[in-house]
Amino acid sequence: MFTTITELRSFVQSRRQSGKRIGLVPTMGALHDGHLSLVKLANERCDATIVSIFVNPTQFGPNEDFQRYPQTLENDLQLLAAVGSPAVFVPDAKEMYPAGFEATIHIGGVSEPFEGAIRPGHFDGVATVVLKLFLASQADVAFFGQKDYQQLCVIKKLVADLNVPIEIVMGPTIREPDGLAMSSRNRYLSEAERRQAVVLSQSLAEAEKLIAVENVRSAETIRQMIRDRILSAGGMTIDYIAVTDPVTLQELTTIETEAVILLAVRLGSTRLIDNVRLFCPH
Ligand code: PAJ
Repeated sequence: MFTTITELRSFVQSRRQSGKRIGLVPTMGALHDGHLSLVKLANERCDATIVSIFVNPTQFGPNEDFQRYPQTLENDLQLLAAVGSPAVFVPDAKEMYPAGFEATIHIGGVSEPFEGAIRPGHFDGVATVVLKLFLASQADVAFFGQKDYQQLCVIKKLVADLNVPIEIVMGPTIREPDGLAMSSRNRYLSEAERRQAVVLSQSLAEAEKLIAVENVRSAETIRQMIRDRILSAGGMTIDYIAVTDPVTLQELTTIETEAVILLAVRLGSTRLIDNVRLFCPH
């Protein structure tokens, strides 16, 4: 385990000298099978894998859960040891943001709607820390989950716009047996909320079916169906349900060849997001 960028760099340099491909999996810890699936993917595709664990304060708003974000380092290290002992980078806030730190990366366009509108500054915090992790690790490939689809779009745009020499790979969303997307925040849910939360993945699966089997093409029809199902499950406030272009995240009125449906709800004190990627052959 490394805690400083200097140690991380010398580890990477030693690996790179022998011509190896370095993979990076950025995380905020409280690891679950979603994170571990990215580590496994990195292990398959790279010669050396680095997992970073850093609860990044700058991506949390003032009324968000930074103070109570789950920290389970011992358990995280055990889980990582069980999937092939990647190198683990665990910096503290001073290492990432030393006194006098003033830089902010702002990616326009894809970072503005949805999570960006509801969590002002969130994607600036993400883009800044992720770019720092890319530069600190000098990795060749970085792995991100589809679970945070908009985040992935922001990072792809960051890499494209700033010519960052790193490849971005997306791993699929890993789900609980009943369909709920795994998330470090699921542990905040009460038993009753946990049961209600299943409506998110169910309504997305229903949308997929309406589009693929019944040939529904109206984004509004799909949004309405999802909204009705979520509201009838009770206990949830909808932040957004959007049918969008998978690259620009612009909202669609008609679904043609490809789309992504993004949604976010509040359930008690927990915010949950999910999405589904659609391919619609004619
Ligand atoms: P965190 O929420 O810990 O997620 C780390 C990575 O795991 C992200 O790429 C996320 O999309 C992925 N992930 C989370 N749940 C997943 C699931 N159920 N299936 C597949 N992948 C999943 O996302 C962050 O941390 C931070 O914003 C970070 C990128 C580390 C910057 O601080």
